[in-house]
Amino acid sequence: MTQHLAAAPAAPTTGTHTGWWRDAVIYQVYPRSFADGNGDGMGDLEGIRSRLPYLRDLGVDAVWLSPFYASPQADAGYDVADYRAIDPMFGTLLDADALIREAHALDLRVIVDLVPNHSSDRHEWFQRALKEGPGSPLRERYHFRPGKGESGELPPNDWESIFGGPAWTRTADGEWYLHLFAPEQPDFNWEHPAVRDEFRSILRFWLDMGVDGFRVDVAHGLVKAEGLPDIGSHDQLKLLGNDVMPFFDQDGVHEIYRSWNQVLTEYSPSLRPGVPPRDRILVAEAWTPTVERTANYVRPDEMHQAFNFQYLGTHWDAAELRTVIDASLAAMRPVGAPTTWVLSNHDVTRHATRFANPPGLGTQLRTPGDRALGLRRARAASLLMLALPGSAYVYQGEELGLPDVTDLPDEVRQDPSFFRATGQDGYRDGCRVPIPWTETGPSYGFGAGGSWLPQPTTWGPLSVESQTGDPHSTLELYRSALTIRRTHPDLGAGESLTWLPSPDGVLAFTRHPGFTCTANTTGAPVSLPAPGRLLLASTEVTVAGGMVTLPADTTAWWAV
Ligand code: GLC
Repeated sequence: MTQHLAAAPAAPTTGTHTGWWRDAVIYQVYPRSFADGNGDGMGDLEGIRSRLPYLRDLGVDAVWLSPFYASPQADAGYDVADYRAIDPMFGTLLDADALIREAHALDLRVIVDLVPNHSSDRHEWFQRALKEGPGSPLRERYHFRPGKGESGELPPNDWESIFGGPAWTRTADGEWYLHLFAPEQPDFNWEHPAVRDEFRSILRFWLDMGVDGFRVDVAHGLVKAEGLPDIGSHDQLKLLGNDVMPFFDQDGVHEIYRSWNQVLTEYSPSLRPGVPPRDRILVAEAWTPTVERTANYVRPDEMHQAFNFQYLGTHWDAAELRTVIDASLAAMRPVGAPTTWVLSNHDVTRHATRFANPPGLGTQLRTPGDRALGLRRARAASLLMLALPGSAYVYQGEELGLPDVTDLPDEVRQDPSFFRATGQDGYRDGCRVPIPWTETGPSYGFGAGGSWLPQPTTWGPLSVESQTGDPHSTLELYRSALTIRRTHPDLGAGESLTWLPSPDGVLAFTRHPGFTCTANTTGAPVSLPAPGRLLLASTEVTVAGGMVTLPADTTAWWAV
């Protein structure tokens, strides 16, 4: 049996689409866990600076840094107390300045995380609003409300926090405030002009620092439905991602991104002579029910990219993957934005562990599963992702094939969601464990001291040092893939692919005439005509007499 042969719709003219980001490979650095420069067990900017050459040699185009701003760390830095300051545990603004300059000198772009949906409860605005009490105009920058019930003892509506429990917390003076995440993360009121002005100013601050873009946290959450209406369901977490909620994916958010787009345009080279031509970008973290709604965020006058979470949630299954790939390409085509691809990030179980477990368990796992199977599939999935048209995101450590740490003792966990029953995100610490750089040493070269989350004792052989130079290692697989991606004329540019006939469970497609990718997602070897000259494969493949045997869970790249 062969899969139905259907060519993807004709590619739009690619000539009109330019911009470094359209096919960029963007590497996510989670600053707490990447590299520790001062030996205190916590990653920092100095550590990142020292490892920039590693990222250049890996072959990525840009680095996205999760938040490093001044923060009490109630949600690992996604609770920002001062958007224009670096948390002392990560360094100083001078370190940030040096990091940006050094990255640029190595031809790496820098994208920073912007957290506009909520601040920390320690933010000056929130502290002053609390102090001034009910009726203060400062309270209008957040969502303060009187409670329901006879003495206001009930929350103003039935919304639940993404981390579990009610989305409202009562203050000492009796009013309640809204927080879609932890109580330490009060939501801004984006109807207030001061909030809008402040964030445009924050954008300018970081653009002046030289950053190349912003990953916008909870981009779908800023605007809430008028009147903050009840949802009326007892199972809100199930609705999330499947429906437009009164607090997520409201159409009003798009006006905000149009105004941000204008700020970025002010920094375009034509308006600022002397500034080297570098486009700056906005990347949406927008969890929406469909790829079509995700596409709304990247219309030509809004953001530039949006994470493709539908792809991240897809199982290692040819038919499912093909459906999502086609839907993703089709959704982005009308708005002219590149498709993006992502398999792992700091919020989900690493894909080496997801694919080690039976499908359908979600993205927060606590079981290691079949590690060898997970790694084999992860390598194949990564090679498939890097062959697709558009931009790809790599989460630190996936290039080492790291599994999630599924057995962290409860007492070391820090994810706020873990401590709030029913929170959907409770097991995120497992993908945040500091990564191993050297075979031995107290924290496998993460730093001179320990590490803020314990690393498994088995991580020495997974370190950068151990994998470097080993042609069978996952690190060398990524290095080779990224080199080919940079140098092969048909892999980088372009926005479409053409499916080729292939056996069930196998994906085969060409990118322009000169490149073909084949991926066997089944548990058994498959023979097919060799599409060309083998460039790279995620496990060893045999080619003989014009035929190739693709082992189980294997992706291969071919020059045609
Ligand atoms: C985003 C971040 C996540 C954080 C949440 C609240 O989803 O990726 O880590 O907890 O927003 O800011």
